[in-house]
Amino acid sequence: MAEELIITNNLSKEEKYKELYPQIFALIQGEDDLIASLSNIMSALKYGFGWLWVGVYFVKGKELVLGPFQGPIACTRIQLGRGVSGTAWHKEEIIIVPDVNEFPDHIICNAASKSEIVLPILNKEGEVALILDVDSDKLNDFDEIDKEYLSKIVQLIEPLL
Ligand code: SME
Repeated sequence: MAEELIITNNLSKEEKYKELYPQIFALIQGEDDLIASLSNIMSALKYGFGWLWVGVYFVKGKELVLGPFQGPIACTRIQLGRGVSGTAWHKEEIIIVPDVNEFPDHIICNAASKSEIVLPILNKEGEVALILDVDSDKLNDFDEIDKEYLSKIVQLIEPLL
């Protein structure tokens, strides 16, 4: 396992993902504990990109329950179909919200959050088991590049479920 994350300044978003992805891959090799690997992945993403909040929610019954994250304290429980996260779970699709104030049912866990991307993570049965939620304090901070590379990171997590 790497001792320290290598993060180069002034890279484009795609270059940064390309620098981080192999490090995230290496970080979780040989570690089958889900919480340990999720914790390091959230840290690598948070410190790699400087986003406001990066974390996961676990599907538990009809609720999402907060899991490993990096950033300010967050809502601990979100109902199915509520907020961006609950909607991504319900619809089983990736949601990019360029301006959270324009999302009708956005749940404000932190007033500094301006845009977000949420990705469902599936278990071996093909059910949503986790939600990856990334929040930025900048408007319109997420696009197709985030969708592509965060999906690759989701694919690293899925075998652990
Ligand atoms: N804004 C999210 C809630 C979770 S966090 O921001 C950490 C939502 O609407 O689902």
